[in-house]
Amino acid sequence: MNIVVTGANRGIGLEFVRQYLARGESVVAAVRSPSAAEALRALGAAHPGALRVLACDVGDDASVAEFARAMGDAAVDVLVNNAGVRGEWTSLEAMDTAEALRTYSVNALGPLRVTRALLPHLLRSETRKVAHISSGMGSIGDNTSGGAYAYRMSKAALNMASRSMAVDLRDRRVISVVFNPGWVQTDMGGRSAPVPVDQSVHALVALIDGLAASDSGDFLDWRGKRYEW
Ligand SMILES: NC(=O)c1ccc[n+]([C@@H]2O[C@H](COP(=O)([O-])OP(=O)(O)OC[C@H]3O[C@@H](n4cnc5c(N)ncnc54)[C@H](OP(=O)(O)O)[C@@H]3O)[C@@H](O)[C@H]2O)c1
Repeated sequence: MNIVVTGANRGIGLEFVRQYLARGESVVAAVRSPSAAEALRALGAAHPGALRVLACDVGDDASVAEFARAMGDAAVDVLVNNAGVRGEWTSLEAMDTAEALRTYSVNALGPLRVTRALLPHLLRSETRKVAHISSGMGSIGDNTSGGAYAYRMSKAALNMASRSMAVDLRDRRVISVVFNPGWVQTDMGGRSAPVPVDQSVHALVALIDGLAASDSGDFLDWRGKRYEW
């Protein structure tokens, strides 16, 4: 299979690349700065010919368009929209609206930009799966602790975008699903996160493998259960 992972140079994205390469898939790692992606360079050396590292800032229209051009006429079986930022988790009073817009542009519009730009590539495949890495923080029903306005709102918006894409692309047999990866040990999740990154991604890869048309439009937890919107 041909897999594309955004935000692939560290954290959950890097682990997706590692696990997909380990089982023999071809992977395109989309990163903001290919020249600084040292972990990917090592993975590429260990899997000759299976990994391409391409520049893609998901917060930038021109960068995403250039990325899609660099993909040429490749088919994409699975797109993992993983790139994301934490934003500032400030109080209501301290919240910076300009910063919130930047967070929205990356976390909510980023997956939309990339999915739209790679639609021709997805349609060249029979698999046509798009997995967006959302967050439990994007659940409105599960929000009992408040705060984190920019992050929560951006992920709730991503959830809505995924559902709309599932509806709009149903006739073209594209599956669009949002995942809550759990609270994961990465730069973003921090050291006290309970879920090791390999465990979360191992579960997510298995869930993506098993996605069917009937799952499109769902919000799924990394343990496979439907998550509360
Ligand atoms: N860790 C958790 O507990 C947790 C929980 C729920 C959801 N998530 C979600 O899971 C995803 C991955 O998170 P993580 O924990 O792996 O975070 P991370 O360790 O902070 O990594 C974030 C990745 O996203 C990339 N990125 C940020 N902005 C980008 C942009 N504009 N264009 C392209 N790439 C960009 C980063 O690249 P640079 O190195 O260039 O910055 C990095 O590769 C995010 O969407 C996050 O919201 C994480």
